[in-house]
Amino acid sequence: MDYDRAKELKAFDDTNAGVKGLVDAGTMNIPRIFIRPPDELAQDLNCLTIPLQVPVIDLSGIEKDDHRRKGIVDEIRIASEKWGFFQVVNHRIPLSVLDEMMNGVRAFHEQPSEVKQEFYSRDGMKKVRLVSNYDLYLSRSANWRDTMNIHLLLSDHLHPDELPLACRDSTIEYIKGVSELGDTIFELLSEALGLKPNHLKDMECSRGRSFSCHYYPACPEPDLTLGTSKHTDPTFLTILLQDQIGGLQVLHDNHWVDVQPNVGSLVVNIGDTLQIISNDKFKSVEHRVLANRVGPRISVACFFTAFTTSSKLYGPIEEMISEESPPVYREFLVSDYTSNILSKALGTSGLDHFKL
Ligand code: OGA
Ligand code: NI
Repeated sequence: MDYDRAKELKAFDDTNAGVKGLVDAGTMNIPRIFIRPPDELAQDLNCLTIPLQVPVIDLSGIEKDDHRRKGIVDEIRIASEKWGFFQVVNHRIPLSVLDEMMNGVRAFHEQPSEVKQEFYSRDGMKKVRLVSNYDLYLSRSANWRDTMNIHLLLSDHLHPDELPLACRDSTIEYIKGVSELGDTIFELLSEALGLKPNHLKDMECSRGRSFSCHYYPACPEPDLTLGTSKHTDPTFLTILLQDQIGGLQVLHDNHWVDVQPNVGSLVVNIGDTLQIISNDKFKSVEHRVLANRVGPRISVACFFTAFTTSSKLYGPIEEMISEESPPVYREFLVSDYTSNILSKALGTSGLDHFKL
């Protein structure tokens, strides 16, 4: 490295204006802190994109008919084992709630910088904040995106005044809708593991929620960087809302597969901790987001996990353990898992650390 990277990272961070600030200033060549190292770029050439589609699962009729529900549970089981990813349609969150959430996130990121900069912070304890690259000082190259984070990881309590005015009402509606959908999907996942519908909910796997409201500005040199580096999600489950731009890819059998935007659908993926408690039955799969000449792209990831204050120990669920399938992981506190992950660059899997 023949430049003072730390100094350039700090200078970028100190603008409090994120990647959007660079784009607004008319940057035509991406700063070198964003350029991926040559070995990573070369590795990509060996890993082609193939024209497959992640499973699309229609949730209509789950409450009406046992036979239909069983069919959906089977689809979810297969998708969670083979892909770690699926899309859901007919999930009962109205399209208007999805659209307004994306419009609100865009309005937040596009408001005057004086207003927005008030929120810019690296303090993860803040319930609501704006940050570009939470792992800026840890990663090998920075990602071309900014993120507004909202977390409900200590309690359910969120007063509307704590939310930015630019996206307040839409966010409240979306949190309500996606939390209910989360409950439904955790029931289906429990059944897919052969457990009672309430099993995962009773384990408090979905009490804590954290929202990453991403803004991926148009990128003048998309081949040199990424929107989000390859990673797995550390939490139990993620429900992702994305707009029509595209760029999200999931690794499947060593090939990248585009997660095609599909109006009204939501993307669901298994996180590391669900892989662990399922004793490797369900897979937490690597994914990334390409940078794009076109933009901005908006996405909202809702991560479900236990409250970080929980004193519960998590490890492979008893029913998932047998003679043929001995426990793969030791037990841990969710807060230990999170602090281990946050001390490393995005993309460093936490699974190995907890393997027996
Ligand atoms: C994430 C993530 C994908 C996207 O936030 O963990 O994978 O499309 N986001 O923004
Ligand atoms: Ni992710």
